Amino acid sequence: MRGRLSGSQPSRIVSYQRHAALKVAATGPAWRALCMGRGPAAGIWVHVLILCRPGLRSNLAHGAEPSRQIALIYEDLLSPTGCACGIAFRLARGPCRVVHAALRRAGVSEQALYDLAPVLELMLLGLLLALGPLAWVWLRNRSGGSLKRLQALSVLTLFLTFDLVLFGAFTRLTDSGLGCPDWPGCYGSASPMGARAQIAEAQAAMPTGPVTHGKAWIEMVHRYLATTVGVLIIAMTIMAWRRARRLGRAGGAGAGRTGAEGTGGALSPWWPTLALFWVCLQGAFGAWTVTMKLFPAIVTLHLLGGTGLLALLCVPAVGLSRAASQQGAAVISPALRAGLWLGLALLVLQVALGGWVSTNYAVLACSSFPTCQGSWWPAMDFSQALQIWRPLGLLQDGSNISFAGLTAIHYLHRLAAYVVVAALAGLWWRLGEVPALASQRRVLGAFLVLQVLTGLSNVVLDWPLVAAVLHTGGAAALVTVIVWCLAASRPGALRDGLPVARGEIA
Ligand code: HEM
Repeated sequence: MRGRLSGSQPSRIVSYQRHAALKVAATGPAWRALCMGRGPAAGIWVHVLILCRPGLRSNLAHGAEPSRQIALIYEDLLSPTGCACGIAFRLARGPCRVVHAALRRAGVSEQALYDLAPVLELMLLGLLLALGPLAWVWLRNRSGGSLKRLQALSVLTLFLTFDLVLFGAFTRLTDSGLGCPDWPGCYGSASPMGARAQIAEAQAAMPTGPVTHGKAWIEMVHRYLATTVGVLIIAMTIMAWRRARRLGRAGGAGAGRTGAEGTGGALSPWWPTLALFWVCLQGAFGAWTVTMKLFPAIVTLHLLGGTGLLALLCVPAVGLSRAASQQGAAVISPALRAGLWLGLALLVLQVALGGWVSTNYAVLACSSFPTCQGSWWPAMDFSQALQIWRPLGLLQDGSNISFAGLTAIHYLHRLAAYVVVAALAGLWWRLGEVPALASQRRVLGAFLVLQVLTGLSNVVLDWPLVAAVLHTGGAAALVTVIVWCLAASRPGALRDGLPVARGEIA
């Protein structure tokens, strides 16, 4: 939208939209009921229509006669696409109002930041990119049946989501988060190629600033990958519901089937459905990350959302893999299971604290280990460190965050790491009692060591890019492996103080 309509255009459009609303109100009752709002809603609607429809926008911007412009808006409102756009807007209006109010409170002008014009192009691109993995799953499992195909798709989606989390860290660490300052496109284009002029202008004005050609590409590749994952999750959801319906028809939920195939829970189509909802929410956090200019709480929630998505995708991936290989759940003691849940809770807290370090750029506040600034307890300001809702680098009162505040943010993550690493090491030890979870135990041990090494490298090796990306990957992998343990096990009875079926397959 930015820079495309002439200055007088918006006011002209406001009067045209009234005409258009009146005309539409006078025709086609069913279509009208479906497509048009009433009163001011109709006006807002025309705005949305103009935002969504590049063709209409450029026609309006190129100075057609007023009567022709009214006709254009009118025709578009009644076209199926215009109508769909309006319905989507109607559905989205409630949540949008809340978001816009929050943005206004944060002093962000949302009008310049959201340009919905490239949404369709981006979705098409995501679909095209997803066709590769989908075709691969299909070709490799042609004769494997729907269970095998769904299992392969869920494992592949989990793997690509893990890559997406890694690429997200790379995007942040290369300062590319604002490489395209609007959302979902780049200066209103689906690719930085269409925004070459604007990017070149921004880069010339500030060569090391947030917008450069390289950063724009990194940011957009992250969005393409995210859209691809979204499409794969949609495919998973459709396949899971179709399969559930087929199985239901074939003899009731779970009836007549054996082993993991009949145990419903892990295979429930609600898991991919929840993941689909989650990935949409994650997209919204991605948008706010950009439009709210790297607001630390939002970026941290975006990181947490990414790890949460991995956990949600891990459950069906494990359940379907167990079903495909006719494998039951490993029996573990209730105490070990409770330990796994506790480990997961501590990990989530640690990921949040880590995200808080990185999104506040507090990594360099301590450059030695185990002491910080040569002291076991350096000067720290925890009241600043724990102010959550504030812009990057500032406090709620508008003053700059102090070095003591940044040190507290950094040190909190380090102190919590001692607890989390000890708890996970304990879990690793206890998992040695369960041969059926030996693979998970090996992965847990390897990633725990990697996590400590990369965490230390961040501190003492002056924050190398590879170590920082691997540190995010390690955290995501640790969350995934604990969820894997939980999804692959169930609590069992104890005899003589020992699990009855220690290490045995149920
Ligand atoms: C199980 C243990 C740990 C977990 C789960 C964990 C998790 C995380 C996460 C998720 C981040 C944010 C990464 C991002 O935003 O991309 C982070 C950042 C960080 N962690 Fe850890 N961490 C752990 C242990 C450690 C240890 C032992 C140290 C060092 C002594 C450490 C030092 C750091 C530093 C310096 C950062 C900021 C890096 C940056 O800004 O890119 N972490 N951690």
